[in-house]
Amino acid sequence: MEILHVSAECYPVAKVGGLGDVVGALPKYQQQAGTIAKVVMPAYQTRFREAHSFELVHQGGLWLGHAWFHFNVWKEVSNVLGFDLYQVDIPGLLDTPGVYGYPNDTERFLAFQIAVLDWLNEWQHQPDVIHCHDHHTGFIPFLLLYGYKYSRLRDIGTVLTIHNAQYQGQFGWDKLYLIPSFDLWKSGMLDWNGAINPLAAAVKCAWKVNTVSPSYMEELINHANGLESLLSTERGKAMGILNGIDDKVWNPATDAMISDMYTEKDVAAGKKANKLKLCEAFGLNPELPLFVFIGRLVGDKGADLLPEIIGRSLHEHPNALNFLILGSGDPHVEWMLEQAKQYAGEHFNVYIGYNETLSHQMYAGADFLLMPSRVEPCGLNQMYAMRYGTIPIVRATGGLRDTVTDFGDAGGFGIRFMQASVADVCHAISRALELHDSKTKFSKIRKTVMQLDHSWDKAAQHYIDLYTSLK
Ligand code: ADP
Ligand code: GLC
Repeated sequence: MEILHVSAECYPVAKVGGLGDVVGALPKYQQQAGTIAKVVMPAYQTRFREAHSFELVHQGGLWLGHAWFHFNVWKEVSNVLGFDLYQVDIPGLLDTPGVYGYPNDTERFLAFQIAVLDWLNEWQHQPDVIHCHDHHTGFIPFLLLYGYKYSRLRDIGTVLTIHNAQYQGQFGWDKLYLIPSFDLWKSGMLDWNGAINPLAAAVKCAWKVNTVSPSYMEELINHANGLESLLSTERGKAMGILNGIDDKVWNPATDAMISDMYTEKDVAAGKKANKLKLCEAFGLNPELPLFVFIGRLVGDKGADLLPEIIGRSLHEHPNALNFLILGSGDPHVEWMLEQAKQYAGEHFNVYIGYNETLSHQMYAGADFLLMPSRVEPCGLNQMYAMRYGTIPIVRATGGLRDTVTDFGDAGGFGIRFMQASVADVCHAISRALELHDSKTKFSKIRKTVMQLDHSWDKAAQHYIDLYTSLK
């Protein structure tokens, strides 16, 4: 069986968040499980592209409405990722330094999808399944069913993975002319609430749909940013498959990005050494418990709560803890965090920006990881944290609920709270400080979380079962 993943991100080529991690890891584990897995993504201007060699495998041209674009499909020659990587290069559209956030994102990702399908139309062989990730690839299942040009590809099964239903990529019907010609009687398949909605179209047209955790699947029936009734109607073909982590990239015993490597046998000394370097770099006292947050500074992650959480916790527990934050996003949250440095003194620091190496150092050097998410379809940070012996403090939602149990419950190992509120998070932080003081319990939980198996092996098999069920 051959699977072609189509995605806007793939680590280490281009990553904005967890989507990149998933598409960089899942195909590798699928290959190990005996499936042929390939990835096609846009050819952004990245360091990876400059540092690796590519061979040209296809040249074509496409119409995007009235505009003509030339495109090339390139294949990475050394197979450095452990699977075939193809990149679609469309000068003038996809040759951007960043992944998202351009005014013409609708055109960019539509052209990407048209180029992928045009290429597949001419490829000598076809994959058995096209696995689409998020709304950037959501027109593919629709076009395969109803696009006049693509009837030759109609037998290829399609799977849509919803990594985050908050983002749907919708745009007005005035841009219908951008979509390659299709059976107009099927226009309704593109529509949701009076707009063209690629995520909704994919939910309707993909042969199977999955979310990245079972709890998120259930939650979407009631909270899906407007798609609730659609997901409830299509529930029969949908399921939740919990993400895994790439335990080769995220392994404190071999991680070259951290200052001192360690295993669960020497976790106390290993984390202490990493914490020392991290605290030195950010002017924090290494003797105090260190709470970190890593992620996009947006409302869905509860990032707007952080300044008040920091202020209140430092007031309730003077000189008893430190905070370090890594992230970027909402400019107001970034500004509030910069301001918080003034009142939090030497107990808080923040790095505004994206820094892969620092994220590894923080998972390794921290005692606790905060995730007050309002929405968390899966969440990878909590699994990375646990692999590095850092105890997660999470709101019980989506994938956080499926991966973290509370240490107060039998067999539990993390800290859970119910509401994304300052009061709930501060209460959880107080519990964390008490746990930190119970030395034996704390060190036992640290070891427990490091031993949990979140590798992709299990999930890769679930996906293979899903593909098999298409035939
Ligand atoms: P999401 O995809 O919703 O952002 P996930 O928890 O699935 O959330 O994945 C986030 C990924 O992005 C993790 O690998 C995390 O370490 C990484 N990450 C997020 N923000 C940053 C940042 N500012 N610098 C480095 N890595 C980051
Ligand atoms: C999305 C979700 C996140 C999930 C990631 C990978 O970005 O917000 O919760 O872990 O996709 O599936």
